[in-house]
Amino acid sequence: MSVSRAVNIADLRRLAQRRLPRIVFDYADGGAEDEITMRDNCRVFDTITLRPRSAAAIPQVDLRTTVLGTTFDLPLLLAPIGSTRMFHPHGEALSARAAGEAGTGYILSTLSGSPLEEVKAAATRPVWYQLYLVGGHNVARAGIERARKAGFSALVVTIDTPVAGMRERDVRNGTKELLTRRIGSMLPFVPQFLARPRWLAGFIADGGLMNFPNVMLPGGPMAYADVGTALEQCAVSWPDLRWIRDAWNGPIVVKGVHTADDARRAVDAGAEGIVVSNHGGRQLDGVAATLRVLPQVVEAVQGQTEVLFDGGIRRGSDIVKALSLGARAVLVGRAYVYGLGAAGGPGVTRAIEILRADLVRTLKLLGCASTATLNRSFVDVPTDWTPAAP
Ligand SMILES: Cc1cc2nc3c(=O)[nH]c(=O)nc-3n(C[C@H](O)[C@H](O)[C@H](O)COP(=O)(O)O)c2cc1C
Repeated sequence: MSVSRAVNIADLRRLAQRRLPRIVFDYADGGAEDEITMRDNCRVFDTITLRPRSAAAIPQVDLRTTVLGTTFDLPLLLAPIGSTRMFHPHGEALSARAAGEAGTGYILSTLSGSPLEEVKAAATRPVWYQLYLVGGHNVARAGIERARKAGFSALVVTIDTPVAGMRERDVRNGTKELLTRRIGSMLPFVPQFLARPRWLAGFIADGGLMNFPNVMLPGGPMAYADVGTALEQCAVSWPDLRWIRDAWNGPIVVKGVHTADDARRAVDAGAEGIVVSNHGGRQLDGVAATLRVLPQVVEAVQGQTEVLFDGGIRRGSDIVKALSLGARAVLVGRAYVYGLGAAGGPGVTRAIEILRADLVRTLKLLGCASTATLNRSFVDVPTDWTPAAP
């Protein structure tokens, strides 16, 4: 099946599974420990019911959304994904281009396999840079400066990664051993790579994923195998927001908020935006699904910062539910990664198209003319949803 015939994101996921070696597919598809939070992120959408207004006769719907002063054609942005280049040659640039062509934004991870300047050059709409402090403050400062010079328009500071989550699929698959790049430890992977010749040919032609060109250490770009240690050595804390703000001098979005308290801290730290996110269930397993905490966070910030949302979005109706509960826009992660893994740029375009068509249809069926006018009256939440813990 080609991506043009993929009916939904689950189809793209199956196609990605067919094209990618297991070790690469599982890196995208998996989550932390028992993957409870990862699954809950998706399942929670099933507990929200929609409340349509019938006979509303809406010939056209308006999907435009303004985030940090920029109007996008869609209420979704592509989330930062580390090592995107592993899914497809030049994966970051292809994704940024596909987002731009669809009239929306792209967020580049610090841990990307492509230089940020190359990705910016491929984009036709605003792109944001996601910051990890890997390599220490000076290295991060240099990365911020590069992103500013290249024209990235917002900085996304991820705060939920003081260590890498325990992704058991990666451990079982031997990801760490593979990344040592010693011939002996790489041999066991040869059969699964050979079984995916299209992916392998592209990966080799692309030079293989050797390092992170946006993390320039004194000896050169940070090597691939150093990520876990690097994250642990430079966890971000609230006081860091001050020097980050001075170094960046532009809008800051704090990503990884999942309590009302942290949302208020982000407001106090002067964040222009926050992302209610648990990293797609890849960090602390056992935290609540993000949709479950979204209303509390929206209430806590009282409109003082823009609230974005991610986690578990696989359908346009999921986006409608998140917007109805107060998110201004959403980030999609795996939904577009599956498209990229399935077929590169056209796969990302197809993922966005699927979500866009879903959005248009859902809004018409709901009797709502625009994403901007979605509100709580369009959904019912379970009666046992309790307010934030004190
Ligand atoms: C393979 C993969 C890599 C990721 N890498 C990063 C990253 O480098 N920085 C970051 O802030 N979030 C990262 N995330 C989290 C996403 O930005 C986003 O929060 C998450 O994917 C949303 O959940 P969803 O995949 O269910 O849409 C990553 C997620 C995945 C699946």
